[in-house]
Amino acid sequence: MADDLRKAADEFLVRYGGDRFDRLFVKAKGAVVVDDTGREILDFTSGQMCATIGHNHPAIVEAMAESGRNAIHMFSGMIPEVVVRLGRKLAEWLPAPLKKSLFVNTGSESNEAALRIAKLATGGYEVIAFGGSWHGVTGAAAGVSYASDRRGYGPDVPGAYAIPEPNAYRCPIGHCRDRCDKSCLNLGLRMFDMQSRGAPAAIIVEPILSAGGVIVPPDDYFETLRQAARERGMLLVFDEAQTAFGRIGHRFAANRFGVVPDIMTVSKTLGGGVPLAATVTSDKIEAQAHAKGFTYYTSHVSDPLPATVGLAVLETIERERLIERAQEMGAYMRERLRELHQRYECIGDVRGEGLLIGVELVKDRESREPHHRLGAKTTARCFELGLSMNIRRRPERGSVWRIAPPLTVTRDEIDRGVAILDRALSESLDALAREGG
Ligand SMILES: Cc1ncc(COP(=O)(O)O)c(C=O)c1O
Repeated sequence: MADDLRKAADEFLVRYGGDRFDRLFVKAKGAVVVDDTGREILDFTSGQMCATIGHNHPAIVEAMAESGRNAIHMFSGMIPEVVVRLGRKLAEWLPAPLKKSLFVNTGSESNEAALRIAKLATGGYEVIAFGGSWHGVTGAAAGVSYASDRRGYGPDVPGAYAIPEPNAYRCPIGHCRDRCDKSCLNLGLRMFDMQSRGAPAAIIVEPILSAGGVIVPPDDYFETLRQAARERGMLLVFDEAQTAFGRIGHRFAANRFGVVPDIMTVSKTLGGGVPLAATVTSDKIEAQAHAKGFTYYTSHVSDPLPATVGLAVLETIERERLIERAQEMGAYMRERLRELHQRYECIGDVRGEGLLIGVELVKDRESREPHHRLGAKTTARCFELGLSMNIRRRPERGSVWRIAPPLTVTRDEIDRGVAILDRALSESLDALAREGG
C-alpha cells in the first residue's frame, strides 16, 4: 500500500521544490510526525514553522469542530463575529498603535497586502528588503525575496531593492567579524538613495532572518532602520511570520527589539497549522489606505474557520505560558547545542533567540568556509535516525541548520534530538573522511 501510494505521488503530484522525502506521512501530534511505515520522527521544524503549539493540539481540533458546528466560510463582505473577536484580541497582544487587522491566509498574501497598503499610503512604489529575505512566492512578496529561487520567472515588480543583511558571522560586505557595526546598512541605504526614482514606499524585513540562515541583527539595528524609513517617507514593515507569538521568547520581535513598525504581518504561527495570516497597521495608515480605495477582496478573507483557530492558538499560548516556555526550552536547547559546539570544530556558530535556533557548519572555524556536504549528509542521517531538521544552504550564505521545534517540546525530546544530531554528525564526518572530503 505504502509503495503504491509513493509511486502515485510521483505520478500525480507536481514537484514544488525544497526538501522532499521519499516516504509519505500519515499523522502528526505534538512534536512528532509519523511516516507511512509507522515510524515516529521528531519534528524540529514545527511542520513548516507553523505548529508552534504542537501538532494537532486539542484546542485547535476543538476550534475546528466548533467551526463545523457554526460556520466554515462566508461571503467575503459578511464579517463573522469570531473575526472581530480575533481582531480585538490581536490588538491586545500588539504594541500600540498597531491595531487594525486584515485576515488572509498565507504569509505571502499578508505581505502582498502590506505592500499594497504602503504603496497607497505613501504614493510611492519602491520597496527595500534584506538580501537573504523570504517574504513569499506571490508577485510583490517574491519580488522582495532574495533567499528564494529567482531565476527563470521573468521580470519582477519594478522598484525592488536589496540591502545587505546584517550577518555578523558572515559579513555580507566583508567588513565585520562577529559584531555587526551597521556599515552594511549605511552602504545599502546609500546604494538605494543613488538608485531611487524618488518614489519610496516601504522597507520590509524579517526582524530575525530565518530562511536566510537564522540571522539576529544587532540590538540597535532597527532603531536606525526605523529612522532611515522616516527620513525617506517609507513605511517600515516587520514580517513576523516566524517570530510572532512566542517562537523567539517574546510576543513579537518588535517587543524584543523595542521598535514598533508601521505595519506588521503575521502568518505561520497564528494559525498553528491552519492557513491564517494577518496584516496589521495603525488607525492612521488604515485610514490613509482606505481613503485611496484600498481593496484586498479574496475568497477567504475574514473566513470564520481559521479565525476560530487563531483565537484558540492565542488563548493556548497564554494559558500554557508558551512564551516563557520558549525562553526556558530555548536556553536549554542552546546550552545542549553549545556542548556540541565545544566538541565539533565543524560547528562554527550557534545562534538565535528562544526556540528559533541556527547552527552553522563550516570546514574550519578560521576560514568559515561553509560545509555544504556535511550539512546535507548529516540532515539525511538525522532523518534516518528519527529527527527532521531543516538545512538552509546557499553557496554565499553558508550551511545552517534551522532548529525550531514546537514551543511545547519537552526536555526529553530535546535530549533525544541532540543525541541524534551528535551521532549523525560524528557518523557523517567519518563517512566524509572515508570518501576523502
Ligand atoms: C518570514 C516569512 N515570510 C513570509 C513567508 C511566506 O509565507 P507563506 O509560505 O505562508 O506564503 C515565509 C515562508 O516561509 C516566511 O518565512
